[in-house]
Amino acid sequence: MKRVGILTSGGDCQGLNAAIRGVAKALYEKWGSEVDIYGIQDGYRGLIEGSYRRMKQEDFSGILTLGGTILGTSRQPFKMMRVIGEDNVDKVKAMKSNFKKMKLDCLVILGGNGTHKTANLLSEEGLPVVSLPKTIDNDVWGTEMTFGFHSAVEIATNVLDCIHTTATSHGRVFIVEIMGHKVGWLPLYAGIAGGADVILLPEIPYKLESIVKTLEQRNKAGKRFSILAVAEGALSQKEAKLSKKEFKAARAEMKYPSISYALAAEIEEKTGQEIRVTVPGHFQRGGSPCAYDRVLSTRFGTAAAQLIYEQNYGNMVALQGGSIVPVPLSEVAGKLKTVPPACEEVRSARDLGISFGD
Ligand code: F6P
Repeated sequence: MKRVGILTSGGDCQGLNAAIRGVAKALYEKWGSEVDIYGIQDGYRGLIEGSYRRMKQEDFSGILTLGGTILGTSRQPFKMMRVIGEDNVDKVKAMKSNFKKMKLDCLVILGGNGTHKTANLLSEEGLPVVSLPKTIDNDVWGTEMTFGFHSAVEIATNVLDCIHTTATSHGRVFIVEIMGHKVGWLPLYAGIAGGADVILLPEIPYKLESIVKTLEQRNKAGKRFSILAVAEGALSQKEAKLSKKEFKAARAEMKYPSISYALAAEIEEKTGQEIRVTVPGHFQRGGSPCAYDRVLSTRFGTAAAQLIYEQNYGNMVALQGGSIVPVPLSEVAGKLKTVPPACEEVRSARDLGISFGD
């Protein structure tokens, strides 16, 4: 009998259940009743606390289109994994001991960047691990695409489309704040798909004057409205020069709930134009996965099952050049796939006249 543990960790996204289903169905196809799958509750927390259940085949039916994760998830910061807190629990030791207690042959981990650092740690500690890259941010190194990203692009684009109609009717300037603290793939793609006039990304710090100039040029050209797609993690060129500590302190003093509101106030002051801010927030992670994500999650899931079948552990399944390939966890952990400021998508947007505020 083979025993496989599975967990989802970090922020949820669309396609997690489709990927879980892909792994499980492919394992049952390969091993039939010779495999038992254990669902670990709420990510690494469940592995630390020993909270898990034996899954039945029917648990994996009817979940392809379901948002969220049937296993639950939580954020367990990597930097705290080796820190023994007030509860006196050695988390790494506890995870290894529960893995043993469950008599698992391997552990399947679905997650983003932080999750992959801990997946690599567990692999280095000798646990047989296979992982799948999920996140709406599409910032996991080693894969051209993560599942969740395209579903979130659809939602954020839809927000921009809806805002367009009101912006046109009222002749207003709107800011739509799109998720992405450190990496701007989502605002970049949604901004292009949703016809934004200005896109602000963490990777391309902005100058207020440059944004104001774009808005004035649009006014002069008789365009009644403007839409800015602003990443949660957008920052000014001045802020980009600050040390991490100084930046944190400056942001702590900011009297607005997020950068978009601060920017709106600054633009209002400079132009006298009224600005409205819309923040779709966690809407972007919710609901059913789009067709692309269902296919990608399924491909990742079945590829992960194949790695388990071959006992090819210590890898993440990744999309490279259109194919699904294994990438060693040691190569993935600790790296971010950021938007290269000169990438083809940014160039194409600039060719259209979209401003990046720089
Ligand atoms: O990593 C996914 C993500 O949705 C980011 O885009 C966003 O900045 C962050 O998670 C929000 O985290 P939380 O759900 O913990 O508020």
